[in-house]
Amino acid sequence: MSRRFHLAWFTNFTVGHWDGTFSHGGSPWDGKFYVDMAQALERACFDYVIYEDKLLVPEAYRGSTETTLKYAHQVPKHDPVPLAAIVAAATSHIGVVPTMSTLAWPPFMLARVSTTIDHIAGGRFGWNIVTSGEDLAAQNFGMDVLPPRDTRYAMADEYMDLVNQLFDSWEDGAVVMDRARGIYADHRKVHPVHFEGQFFRCRGPLNTVPSPQRRPTYVQAGGSPRGRDFAAKHADSIIATANQINGMKQFRDDIRERAMKLGRNPDDIKVLYLVYPFLGETDQEAKAKHRRIVNEPSFAEAALAGIGQITDSSGKTLRQLASERFDNGLDLIGTPDAVAERMGEAIEAIGGDGFLISTPFQRISRRYVNEVCEGLVPALQRRGLMRTEYTRSTLRENLKEF
Ligand SMILES: Cc1cc2nc3c(=O)[nH]c(=O)nc-3n(C[C@H](O)[C@H](O)[C@H](O)COP(=O)(O)O)c2cc1C
Repeated sequence: MSRRFHLAWFTNFTVGHWDGTFSHGGSPWDGKFYVDMAQALERACFDYVIYEDKLLVPEAYRGSTETTLKYAHQVPKHDPVPLAAIVAAATSHIGVVPTMSTLAWPPFMLARVSTTIDHIAGGRFGWNIVTSGEDLAAQNFGMDVLPPRDTRYAMADEYMDLVNQLFDSWEDGAVVMDRARGIYADHRKVHPVHFEGQFFRCRGPLNTVPSPQRRPTYVQAGGSPRGRDFAAKHADSIIATANQINGMKQFRDDIRERAMKLGRNPDDIKVLYLVYPFLGETDQEAKAKHRRIVNEPSFAEAALAGIGQITDSSGKTLRQLASERFDNGLDLIGTPDAVAERMGEAIEAIGGDGFLISTPFQRISRRYVNEVCEGLVPALQRRGLMRTEYTRSTLRENLKEF
């Protein structure tokens, strides 16, 4: 019996592969491409689609915005929250998970918009919890520099406490909808929270009706010990970058141990590893495609812009370093069958729980989405590695299904 695993897709609200040979070439900003994409992922039974987000125009490479803007690699980046609402309205099973930063969103607003979209989604809304890691982002919100990481996570812990209280500020049964007695909601079951923390104050209650999941599915990507503790405490799903099967297993074992220490059932946390599969009709074709992409003139420069500074003494060329950034040692380059086989073996050795599919620099196109949804996913399903239908109704239940 093969071990079934979860699949999600990591993307963002950007231009996609705007100059690709097989790109539609139109504007992505009406969100229709991303609606089509989510519908394709839903036909393929993905658990969720997640929209990365940052709140700055990066200047990490040579102190300038030139590279990022020239190649459209981190910007323009539109807001994923309204996108999540239209995607939710146009789908019925897949989870929809935008990123929102605790640095930027007031807790009351976050709780309110999450509840609103979870209703629109019928219980499929998730929140990718980030604390933001850039001074340039902090400077868009009235700060000179970011608070140190430990402070950011202390703030985020308090933030979670507050939003969880807001989500619970309406008791079950508060909405009565009794036409005969003329009562919509019972005010005795709706309570202020009177939150007085070190960083946040909020009166409450929330002015929205509790949603199907009551709170969004929490997704997080903490990497540091402090970040991992935060994720182990709060997350329903963790997205992670790790190298080789060993690195992935170590990461998952560590998270599960932290979760147990915090009194949580580790099986309630699904760890998904970021991967970049390259698919072809034959292994040679896939390898040639991979070679062609990493040798594109913009690739190394853009990869370096993403890395920021390189202080490497291993003797590797910059292009090697750039290309390794998208290779986590699983060798997911080949035919759908070959890649599916390797994914299955990897999860068996790691112990769970699934993968987060993406493309270098989010150069996404309908063609690439189809290669995964109509090639890789059926190959996984033939091996019993992936669900062939949704059997639950909310995102959190789908994650807990296996
Ligand atoms: C797969 C993945 C996705 C991430 N997405 C975002 C994002 O959308 N926005 C953001 O500001 N940070 C994002 N991060 C950064 C994480 O939130 C986190 O800060 C990072 O993993 C470092 O861990 P630390 O905060 O414990 O130092 C992401 C990280 C990973 C691994």
